[in-house]
Amino acid sequence: MDKLIEVKDLTFVYGRGTKQPVKALKNVNLDIMRGEFLTILGHNGSGKSTLARHFNGLLTPSKGEVLVDGISVKDRSKLWEIRKRVGMVFQNPDNQIVSTVVEEDVAFGPENLGIPADEIRQRVDWALETLNMTEYRREEPHQLSGGQKQRVAIAGVLATRPECIVLDEPTALLDPIGRNEVIEAAKKLNRDEGITVVLITHFMNEAIESDRIVVMDRGEITLSGTPRDIFDQVELIRELGLDIPMATQIALGLRQRGIQVADHILAAEELVNSLCPSS
Ligand SMILES: Nc1ncnc2c1ncn2[C@@H]1O[C@H](COP(=O)(O)OP(=O)(O)O)[C@@H](O)[C@H]1O
Ligand SMILES: [Mg+2]
Repeated sequence: MDKLIEVKDLTFVYGRGTKQPVKALKNVNLDIMRGEFLTILGHNGSGKSTLARHFNGLLTPSKGEVLVDGISVKDRSKLWEIRKRVGMVFQNPDNQIVSTVVEEDVAFGPENLGIPADEIRQRVDWALETLNMTEYRREEPHQLSGGQKQRVAIAGVLATRPECIVLDEPTALLDPIGRNEVIEAAKKLNRDEGITVVLITHFMNEAIESDRIVVMDRGEITLSGTPRDIFDQVELIRELGLDIPMATQIALGLRQRGIQVADHILAAEELVNSLCPSS
């Protein structure tokens, strides 16, 4: 795998030159590999969104460098090239929907890129199919559930054929069913379409199947590793203001009560298999 996004010594200050500048990122270094599923964790205000907004040039470094496919986000003449490669999905689907018909909404991105009409139709079909939203193509987005709306927003980004999709707390406003739909969609894009996925989330269960997790604290990356590496450090994770996955918590509790449970439990199925090996 080669590097798609390179973050080198990135520092970012909001309100530079004002009386109260906020240093939101401090010397952050991070390489995101092509095809990777990376999750970014961290409590509120730790700098996750500020970092993510550099990945498609919404923000530019105060100091340091961010390269997307070798292109510097500081080169404003290349912004289009960067945004073609990296698409963003935000927390609130209502703010991302621009049209009154689902399929028109999904077509909006490729239309803006000046793609020919025939190809737009193909891309819209493909994006809706991939997000399991084909049956809703003629519906009005505001009639849909939160999870469905968020999948329309993701389809709209997908239709621009990015190499990477950055999802900044895409499930924060959704119910459990909607959350599951969105996370399954993100996994599918990574697995079946080879799209690099960067997921920012507060829900630990959404992180357990990533290739890698980075944890942010006060503008810095404090931990980086596989989900097992990260969630094995229970005390440290709690000190950083984060939860551990539900199944991991239950396994810990059982172990404290003298019940034998396998190490490194992350998912509910692993816990069940460990407790009832024959099932
Ligand atoms: N537009 C802004 N102006 C000033 N400070 C900001 C702005 N956006 C975020 N911040 C500050 O930058 C820090 C990092 O914020 P953010 O990247 O949004 O964190 P997270 O996404 O992890 O919650 C916080 O201290 C936050 O208050
Ligand atoms: Mg944020």
